[in-house]
Parts: sequence; C-alpha cells; structure tokens
Amino acid sequence: MAELIVALDVPNKAAVAKTLATLGDAVDFYKIGLELFTAEGPDIVRLVRDAGKRVFLDLKLHDIPRTVERAVRSIGGLGAELATIHASGGKAMIRAAADAAAEFGANAPKILAVTCLTSLDQGDLDDLGVSRAMPAQVEALGLLAITNGADGIVCSPKEVAAMNRVLIPAAQGRPVCFITPGVRPAGAAVGDQKRIATPAGAVRDGSTHLVVGRPILEAPDPVAAARAIRAEMDAALA
Ligand code: C5P
Repeated sequence: MAELIVALDVPNKAAVAKTLATLGDAVDFYKIGLELFTAEGPDIVRLVRDAGKRVFLDLKLHDIPRTVERAVRSIGGLGAELATIHASGGKAMIRAAADAAAEFGANAPKILAVTCLTSLDQGDLDDLGVSRAMPAQVEALGLLAITNGADGIVCSPKEVAAMNRVLIPAAQGRPVCFITPGVRPAGAAVGDQKRIATPAGAVRDGSTHLVVGRPILEAPDPVAAARAIRAEMDAALA
C-alpha cells in the first residue's frame, strides 16, 4: 500500500492545530518542513506525534558526516518515521545518517535522500561544475544513496518509474521508499508545480509515499479531497 502524506506547509503551531482538527481521521501522516521546524522547533514534531499522527521530517540535512550523524540522533528521538538528507553530501555523510538512524532499532527513522532539487536545471548543474546531464546525475546520486544505506529517495513522479528500475536491483532485497511530491488529482490547480502526475499515475509508476499539500489544504472540502486522493491511490493498486 502507498502512503498519503500531507505537507504541513503552514507557518506556526496554531495553524498546525487547525489543520489537524480539520482533517481529523482523514489523514494520519504529515510532512514537517523547514518553515515550520525553524519557527516552532522540535516541539512541533512532538505535537503532531501526540495527536496520534505519523511524521515525515523534511529538513534536507547536508553537512559533515559527524554533524549529520548527531542531527539524525536528535531526529530519531523525536519519533519521526521519515527524514531527509541531500545525497550530494557524499557517501560518508549518507552512511553516517543511515548508521545513526539504525541505532533506533525498530523505531529508526527511514533516511531518504534528495538527489537534485527540482528547482535546479541543467544550467545550474553547469554552474556547479557538474558535467553530467540531469537524468544521469539524478540516477548517480540515487545509486550513491541506496548503496550507502539510505532507505529511499525523494523524486519527481515523472522520474519514479525509471528510478524504481535502477534502485530496486541496487538495493539487493532491501525495501526502497520512493517519495513523490508534485501530485495533482485530475482537474486540480497545478500552482507552481511543473512535472506533475495524478495520484493513480504516481502509485502505478512505483511511488510508495505521495506528498500532497495545496490540493488538500486549499480544497473547499479538505476531508473530501484527502479521501478522494486516498481512494484513487487504492483503486490504482487494486
Ligand atoms: O502544495 P504541494 O502539493 O505542491 O506541496 C508539495 C510539497 O512537497 C511542498 O511541501 C513542497 O515544498 C514539497 N516539494 C516539492 N517538490 C520537490 C520537493 C519537495 O513540491 N521537488
């Protein structure tokens, strides 16, 4: 079964409480990103956990291995199920994150690697001195992450089928998570997302976790919107 994660792209604790109350039982998994985390600190993770919800902590860590290792230890203690790092931090950093997470045993947060931010284009890679074409760079970073202990990647739903083909064999039997934002139900406002897919398309192509923000949070009836996406995901996998 694929998971539906709602992006808590709200500024503060009061807005979180309002969103949790609005969505109630319709959603049990939330993504906390940098905006909310830097505003409210780790207590915001505890608040969402105490409401009985699951947490994806999207801080995209990128630092020296020792610092990332220690940050992941702090994250593990918060009870987040998923946490992000940048694959471009290199293999020692990826390994340090994975090893620190593993210390939490059955409660270990899964470490997900961001390959290339979707805000970057080929010109940005050139500026950074990366000579590979974007798809090859995404694939290389995905492989680096999976072969150094990461549990999965974050990618566009347009890349997820190709990444499934490459990363599942590379994981040699370990399960791999494929987290995709950029999901839009047919007819929903696209907003600033460019490379989008429907919920059904994303799960059929191998997404294990769909991150959805505005199509639920800004819907006239957020509960109905969340339930419709969930139903579309389940129908696609039936
Ligand atoms: O509102 P929307 O459904 O576009 O929200 C998607 C969420 O996923 C946001 O929190 C956004 O920051 C995040 N995200 C994204 N595209 C990426 C990586 C993360 O939209 N490539």
